[in-house]
Amino acid sequence: MPTVSTLLWASLPIILAALIYQVGLTGFILAHITEHIAFKVLRSFFPTTHCYASVKTLSSDITRAECFSVSDGKFSRVFLDDASSDVKSGRSGHVIPGLWDGHGHLIQFGESLHSVNLFGANSMTEVKERLVEYKLGRPEIGTKEQWLRGVGWDQANFEGKWPTASDLEIDDSFKDLFIMLDRVDVHCVWVSKKVLTLLPPSLPDIPGGEIPVEGVFCDNAMDIVLEYYPKPSREQKSKFVKDAMSELNKLGIVGMHDAGVTPGELNLYKELSAGEGWSVRVYAMVECDIRNTFCPDAVQKVATPNGNFHVRSVKLFGDGALGSWGSAMIEPYSDKPSSSGSLLVNATTLSKLTNDWASAGYQVNIHAIGDLANRNAIDAFEAALRALCPHSSPRECQEKHRFRIEHSQIIHPDDQIRMAELGIIPSIQPTHATSDMGYAESRLGLQRTKDEAYRMRSLLSLRPILGSDFPVEPASIFEGMFAAITRRSPRTGLDPNGDKIGWYPEETLTLQEALVGFTVNPAYGAFLEDKAGVIKAGAYADWVVLDEPLESMDPDSLRKATVRETWVGGKRVYQRPDVGGD
Ligand SMILES: *[C@@H]1O[C@H](CO)[C@@H](O)[C@H](O)[C@H]1NC(C)=O
Ligand SMILES: [Zn+2]
Repeated sequence: MPTVSTLLWASLPIILAALIYQVGLTGFILAHITEHIAFKVLRSFFPTTHCYASVKTLSSDITRAECFSVSDGKFSRVFLDDASSDVKSGRSGHVIPGLWDGHGHLIQFGESLHSVNLFGANSMTEVKERLVEYKLGRPEIGTKEQWLRGVGWDQANFEGKWPTASDLEIDDSFKDLFIMLDRVDVHCVWVSKKVLTLLPPSLPDIPGGEIPVEGVFCDNAMDIVLEYYPKPSREQKSKFVKDAMSELNKLGIVGMHDAGVTPGELNLYKELSAGEGWSVRVYAMVECDIRNTFCPDAVQKVATPNGNFHVRSVKLFGDGALGSWGSAMIEPYSDKPSSSGSLLVNATTLSKLTNDWASAGYQVNIHAIGDLANRNAIDAFEAALRALCPHSSPRECQEKHRFRIEHSQIIHPDDQIRMAELGIIPSIQPTHATSDMGYAESRLGLQRTKDEAYRMRSLLSLRPILGSDFPVEPASIFEGMFAAITRRSPRTGLDPNGDKIGWYPEETLTLQEALVGFTVNPAYGAFLEDKAGVIKAGAYADWVVLDEPLESMDPDSLRKATVRETWVGGKRVYQRPDVGGD
């Protein structure tokens, strides 16, 4: 009888052969899959450790750290290490969690990178100069198939007069061009005569829309033009997304809430998010092909395993914007007593939509600027919370649904109290306050401005989500933080009086509160708490490296701050050119 051990000895050559074969096979496979995939696989098994001069975590586990380890795209350990002081003093870079913009528009931002930039153009002459210069470098643009696009004009810079289609006939070469330029708040478009020739000769009256002069279309009236606008192709949109993402990475942005994505675009996002070049996490709000409708069959909820793309919320639209008198007010405008703006949807429909979407399991985010639109949004949320959770308080129910008001711009004092009681999340853009501060008082009057408009500190207990609304405002979060902590224009550094006191400075946030507004709060508002906006074990390994600690920057260096590096999922997606090396 052979013993076990002789059997073992006898089979040793076979085992060895198998092992050699196995190693050979592994080598064969490794050699034949791309270096990239091999690297990815290795990285997911072996944690890498990064140490810096300081790490601000925003986590209560450990608030200040020096090092963290990353494994499989997530932080696995965050710690103070016991390296010698020599080693420690040789470290550079100050880390904060990756930044999130709580309200932006990704494709439009990408498109704006391929448009004439009219922001800050202070006269019609300057607008024309910028158009001419842009066109010179792009002879192919301006055809019926590819309109010349631009964004950022403001009639306040044309002595308050609306621009007209004739203004775009700058010279003979411009007479044949199809041009569409978005107002600074993207609530109006200004088009050329060539575009007007496409439209029906007599234009219909559109509820919730306005055509103040020949060539300008506001709010719902924009649809008349958009029907003829050659929509960017899938390829163009893919390019817009990728260009937008690399631009955002340069600003330290690792994630964004996309405030209105159509079903077709959601499909494109799903496809793109599985491939290369998708370097910003996107939390998309569904916008049905027809605004303010219920279209759950056209979309699906998404949560990709790597956390790159999430869909579980919907965007509804209560009203227009303040600049074009489009926001819906309880009382008439102070500088236009004949108007109190217009609702895009009545209270009954808004309430029904809120209830339908929430019942289908979607977070509901309502665009509301004017105090009437905000009131209707709060009414709709309160009714839905009572209906959805008959056995618990609306406040408890809200923790589950996390309803949000996008912009939360002008809110009646009574409704500010109700909002606080219900726990409704305000989604605020600090640079909207500083962009509008020049004319807000004339639109609203002193009292309404003082009691209702552009609250920040007053809404602090509601964990405001901060954002920029890019491309409506510049995407730089440092500019947003500056606006939040000073209530002064990040462009000029000044308040409307040319001072440094700040516009209603009692509404400023601290730097720490502003940082939380661009990290922890957007994470909560996207059901991603403990995963995003924080450096702690188990969270996505997203971080930003700065030259100096954030809290040591004075406001004026903050607004011009740049990032050294941006990391998403443990991978470096941006490095400032002057840094170089490792
Ligand atoms: C609200 O709007 C809907 C849809 O446009 C309409 O059917 C309904 O009659 C309106 N309700 C009120 C109270 O105006
Ligand atoms: Zn927006």
